[in-house]
Amino acid sequence: MDHPESKTLPFILAITGASGSVYGLRLLQYLAELDQPVELLVSKAAIRVMSEEADLNFGDELRSGLLNYLGLPASALVNLHSLNDYGASVSSGSYRTRGMAVVPCSLGTLGALAHGLTENLIQRAAAVCLKEKRQLLVLVREMPFGHIQLKNMLALSEAGAVVASACPGFYHRPQTLCDQIDFVVGRVLDQFGFENSLFKRWKEESKPLPVPGLRLS
Ligand SMILES: Cc1cc2nc3c(=O)[nH]c(=O)nc-3n(C[C@H](O)[C@H](O)[C@H](O)COP(=O)(O)O)c2cc1C
Repeated sequence: MDHPESKTLPFILAITGASGSVYGLRLLQYLAELDQPVELLVSKAAIRVMSEEADLNFGDELRSGLLNYLGLPASALVNLHSLNDYGASVSSGSYRTRGMAVVPCSLGTLGALAHGLTENLIQRAAAVCLKEKRQLLVLVREMPFGHIQLKNMLALSEAGAVVASACPGFYHRPQTLCDQIDFVVGRVLDQFGFENSLFKRWKEESKPLPVPGLRLS
């Protein structure tokens, strides 16, 4: 990130099978619209979650299906990799990248990353980022966290990763679900130095929460 060239390097985005695949999809859309080259990694479980959460079923046409769904052209700078392809660019530290975000990050992938496993390309690319001291962010989603997962998060943080939660704030006074998604995605983008105004920052002008949003019964 310190090197001036780093802003033009590809960015690795992994979408794993935690709930909240919409965070990863929104991040992909935002980056592609910026013409930021994206090396995209999607786990099998993530595909299942997308089907459960948004009725997205792209079969063998995952790249074109995702681009179409996100309103992106076929020419978008999105390079989808097979998770079995250990010969892919992102498998090597000599292939320079801007860093990697795992959004959302399942507890399974969290555990694998915390223990340096490389059983698929997501795990290998993340291990490469850590060893090369490139930024790695994991957006973990679960409720509640168990002791093992908390230890895994600590281990990853100690190894240099940014451990983020898929939990939006409320101080920006969200009006819609999209506001909440963009709050989280905007904070992820912040971590990598991507300029964005996806959410209202603290002390920026905002509207009050609608009263029905506060009624629980
Ligand atoms: C609808 C659905 C929601 C899920 N939500 C979560 C979740 O929030 N967090 C999590 O760690 N796993 C969740 N899982 C389980 C993971 O998908 C599962 O552990 C999987 O093995 C993760 O694999 P991956 O890390 O390779 O993507 C969910 C599964 C399904 C089908």
